[in-house]
Amino acid sequence: MTGGKSPNAVWHRASVTRRRREEQNGHRGLILWFTGLSGSGKSTLAHAVEEELHRRGCRTFVFDGDNVRHGLCGDLGFSDEDRAENIRRIGQMAKLFVEAGVVALTAFISPFRADRRRVRGMADHAEDFIEVFCDCPLEVCEQRDVKGHYRRARKGEIRDFTGISSPYETPENAELTVRTGEHDIEHCVQQVLQLLESRGAVKSPR
Ligand code: ADX
Repeated sequence: MTGGKSPNAVWHRASVTRRRREEQNGHRGLILWFTGLSGSGKSTLAHAVEEELHRRGCRTFVFDGDNVRHGLCGDLGFSDEDRAENIRRIGQMAKLFVEAGVVALTAFISPFRADRRRVRGMADHAEDFIEVFCDCPLEVCEQRDVKGHYRRARKGEIRDFTGISSPYETPENAELTVRTGEHDIEHCVQQVLQLLESRGAVKSPR
């Protein structure tokens, strides 16, 4: 389920290429894929990293799990199959943003290794995809319970809830692990920015 193609669809090659867009933007396009439990701080971190990148003049866009499930993926639930489809669609969308020369930041639980491996495999170049594991213990996420979902999941009111009644498969080859349960947001933002700088993906601030 990597998203094949429709019958008789023919690829049209753009004359304004990814490279030309990247040159105009002054940085390369890439995907920053944040993964972690609900409440682990993925969205908060993605938006904070975006804020810093934007400040440095980068073109950015955040795809957020809850938001995307209001529209593009509003027809999907939380079965294993629906989550796989959710991640596939986001992977494809993020890939288009990379083609547009944008830094696409995605904040989805994306609990299954196979689904994350698949989106990584969609990237044209290995350096296009950076997986960031937001490592926060379940107890901390559950204690925060910003949306009240954990309490309802414990009562059995929400089925297949990640960490409670559906698994979260910890990343084994993430480019970066940030301990969002221990460190404050600024520290985590700096870790992500340092990684991007060390790869030459963004310039250091002046
Ligand atoms: S994913 O598993 O397909 O990657 P996604 O990130 O899009 O999940 O959506 C997760 C958000 O949906 C959670 O932050 C939470 O607010 C909400 N949600 C509702 N039901 C569930 C559920 N059963 N499991 C996990 N999250 C859920």
